Amino acid sequence: MTHVETADDAVRVGSLTRSFDGRAVIDNLELTVRKGEFVALLGRSGCGKSTLLRVLAGLDREIAGEVLVPRRKAVAFQAPRLMPWKRVWRNVLLGLPGRPGRDIAEKALKEVGLGHRTDAWPKTLSGGEAQRASLARALVREPDLLLLDEPFGALDALTRITAQRLVADLWQSRGCAVLLVTHDVEEALLLADRVLVMDGGVIAHEIRVDRDRPRDIADPYLAGLRTELLDRLGVEAAEPAEVEKAA
Ligand SMILES: Nc1ncnc2c1ncn2[C@@H]1O[C@H](COP(=O)(O)OP(=O)(O)O)[C@@H](O)[C@H]1O
Ligand SMILES: [Mg+2]
Repeated sequence: MTHVETADDAVRVGSLTRSFDGRAVIDNLELTVRKGEFVALLGRSGCGKSTLLRVLAGLDREIAGEVLVPRRKAVAFQAPRLMPWKRVWRNVLLGLPGRPGRDIAEKALKEVGLGHRTDAWPKTLSGGEAQRASLARALVREPDLLLLDEPFGALDALTRITAQRLVADLWQSRGCAVLLVTHDVEEALLLADRVLVMDGGVIAHEIRVDRDRPRDIADPYLAGLRTELLDRLGVEAAEPAEVEKAA
């Protein structure tokens, strides 16, 4: 793992291999993410998406190959992982170097719409609020690369839409690169500049989403991309509600 600020790219991965018990889950993978680019990563359950994200986050160093990422990066997981014995604002600052003040946490919490929950205990937060607290924790790191591992996966449909909009807004205001792992093809198409499909330990397919935001999933162009992606994922195109279960 090397930290290099490259001119145009936030992430450069070359010949990356990660094996568990002799089985290569990531197998000579190549990946580039441009500065400020929003990339979504799809793939069947167990194909290695989280493994890749953990490598990029610097949480897994038992790898072969080259990984260049920005020094400033942050990760948010599906489960918000808040410490129950620390108030929300202390959770937001957890693990930050130096002695960051409460004002820094407050600012990030306001940014995610949680200014009123600064002093709350984690167990009093709703699922959507906990996920936003987790995002605030990522934001105080002022990341050049934001890694999100199915951050909306556990949220109900409405909360999920709010959370997606929030991430889109944060990305636009912060200008950081985002790599979002999701199992939701429509979410990927609504949010990302580029959608990758991981399979067989590599990025097996990628599409560029050439549409301004905000996007409408009923747009025929996006519908076409959706069919293409579902096909790559090995899922029959069906009504959205059924697709969600299958994907
Ligand atoms: N720490 C680990 N030890 C052994 N096997 C692991 C470990 N982490 C992940 N794996 C295996 O690697 C594969 C990919 O896992 P993961 O990256 O979590 O998939 P995804 O996030 O795409 O669902 C799975 O077969 C999983 O069992
Ligand atoms: Mg995963």
